[in-house]
Amino acid sequence: MAAAAAAFFLDFGGGMIRIGVIGYGYWGPNLVRNFAELPAARVTMVADRRPERLALAGRRHPTIRTTTEVSELIASPDVDAVVVATPVEFHHDLTMMALRGGKHVLVEKPIASSSEQAERMIEEALRRRLVLMVDHTFVYTGAVQKIRDLTSTGELGDIYYYDSVRINLGLFQHDVNVLWDLAVHDLSIMDFVLQQQPTAVSATGLSHVAGSPENIAYMTMFFDGPLMAHVHVNWLAPVKIRRTLLGGSRRMVVFDDLETSEKVKVYDRGISLDPSPENVYQMLVGYRSGDMWAPKLAIAEALNVEASHFVDCVSRGVEPITGGEAGLRIVRLLEAASASMAAQGRPITLGQPV
Ligand SMILES: NC(=O)c1ccc[n+]([C@@H]2O[C@H](COP(=O)([O-])OP(=O)(O)OC[C@H]3O[C@@H](n4cnc5c(N)ncnc54)[C@H](O)[C@@H]3O)[C@@H](O)[C@H]2O)c1
Repeated sequence: MAAAAAAFFLDFGGGMIRIGVIGYGYWGPNLVRNFAELPAARVTMVADRRPERLALAGRRHPTIRTTTEVSELIASPDVDAVVVATPVEFHHDLTMMALRGGKHVLVEKPIASSSEQAERMIEEALRRRLVLMVDHTFVYTGAVQKIRDLTSTGELGDIYYYDSVRINLGLFQHDVNVLWDLAVHDLSIMDFVLQQQPTAVSATGLSHVAGSPENIAYMTMFFDGPLMAHVHVNWLAPVKIRRTLLGGSRRMVVFDDLETSEKVKVYDRGISLDPSPENVYQMLVGYRSGDMWAPKLAIAEALNVEASHFVDCVSRGVEPITGGEAGLRIVRLLEAASASMAAQGRPITLGQPV
């Protein structure tokens, strides 16, 4: 949905957007809590297949109606917008059901299991003039917003590399490999801060549990120009690391999400190239080692910022920062990475950017 062309205004009776959440497992409760805290929204219903999860939701939020029937939530006149927080294999079908029922949708990451599914979801939302947003949570963190400021204002200079490690002893997922679970965070951060799309992807990975998807993977992305990106993800690591380096020609950034304060550090370091006095065709590499500083970051919880953005987009009828197209771009990269992994890292060239 093009923001300007598709702006439409809806009357939600008093401006309160009524939210129904499908999936109250690990992540769903965070979404319910954050939407419930917004002055402009009210969580009216929660659906989950598991009655014990609904019982928990009921104890925590006694005014919210619960149901094991997704269709009941979608048909409810008390629901204006649906949040889909189930495993990825259900994202497409539940989102399509909600859109066809006339509801706006915020769907968990990754938006769908395939790019064909994501395209269908985008098309349906467009046709019905409904908001479709994907939960790329990191985009709404103070840290990533600051890094985006630093890249877009040219503070870092030309970006040379994005290099990330996202590992821990993680929950082995059954329906997706570790790239679709963890690398999706890096891909969504890159999509937001780099403003450039990769031209090719190479990935390698392995499964250490028979019949399960890959639990360790290395993904390299190539771009037009001097930028490259690498993401290392692993569910079988003894320690938790969430560290990203962003190297620029002027400055470099270290983003450590496990730091309680000073998550983002900016280093005024790099190299300078000077012609050799003996040989004009040879460049001498000099080192520049300036200050390091930790910029002040917005401290609001990312999901609160994101929930508020979704409600704002629904009430004003505008395209979210992480709309369906952003979700589709990430799924295309994940598909290319999976294809490359199946071919022992053969680079897969990507088509035209979305
Ligand atoms: N944005 C983030 O940082 C973040 C973090 C964790 C998980 N997630 C995403 O959230 C989604 C859910 O992950 P999770 O870890 O909460 O999974 P989970 O398995 O803990 O919870 C999913 C819940 O959905 C319910 N469910 C599944 N299919 C259903 C259906 N058809 N109808 C009704 N209920 C159904 C299950 O009973 C379960 O309670 C995934 O897409 C995951 O990628 C996002």
